[in-house]
Amino acid sequence: MKTLVIGANGQIGRQFCELAHQAGVPIRAMIRDTSQQAWFQERGIETVLGNLEGDFGKAFYGCDQVVFAAGSGPHTGPDKTLMIDLHGALRAIDLAASLGVGRFIMVSALRAEKPLEAPDKLRPYMAAKHAADAHLRAARVPHVILKPGRLTDEPATRRVATSLDEAGDNRVSRANVAHALLHLARRRDLARREYVLLDGERTLDVALA
Ligand SMILES: NC(=O)c1ccc[n+]([C@@H]2O[C@H](COP(=O)([O-])OP(=O)(O)OC[C@H]3O[C@@H](n4cnc5c(N)ncnc54)[C@H](OP(=O)(O)O)[C@@H]3O)[C@@H](O)[C@H]2O)c1
Repeated sequence: MKTLVIGANGQIGRQFCELAHQAGVPIRAMIRDTSQQAWFQERGIETVLGNLEGDFGKAFYGCDQVVFAAGSGPHTGPDKTLMIDLHGALRAIDLAASLGVGRFIMVSALRAEKPLEAPDKLRPYMAAKHAADAHLRAARVPHVILKPGRLTDEPATRRVATSLDEAGDNRVSRANVAHALLHLARRRDLARREYVLLDGERTLDVALA
């Protein structure tokens, strides 16, 4: 029972892969380039080459769960937002559904459902995340949608909140997101769930029940 990690070489992706591997959760890291393989090989983590703008269907074989932590990032334009955050995500969801993958865990974004309330520069990104989330909800694949707030590089506390009211702030560390993904990857019983994720005071067991 293997989990395919899409966006494995990213900041959240690497932390999740390392945690999952240490916890004995079988994973396959999808990366874009052979130059990225060494980091994973040094840790004994299986990799597969795949690009969301190209062919990546073979990456799914033998995997019964997907963690989607890929993103076009802040240094590219709306063209990449369209091709990666939207079209790449839709293709990954469709592949998972057609191959009968047991569960799809999506890293979305806080307030993705309200693109028009985002700053101008972020609107295409929020619209892409919103559309990908809607596609996942409608797909024939059990899913969990995780909606982190503004990402920071603070260390893990493993204490989180699931609403802005509870957190009092819109930030969450990438490390806490990685721990939340590990929690969700192991909790196979959780499906058709959506969680806002912010730094907070509750344990993952309690907050993501
Ligand atoms: N920044 C925020 O405040 C914020 C808030 C909420 C949610 N998010 C979401 O959080 C997620 C991850 O964040 P992060 O900080 O870990 O991002 P990151 O470090 O930029 O990682 C993104 C990953 O996506 C991969 N990727 C990009 N284009 C790809 C393609 N065509 N095919 C396959 N993989 C591709 C990148 O690959 P390479 O390593 O090869 O470049 C990278 O590994 C993203 O989904 C983002 O939308 C961000």
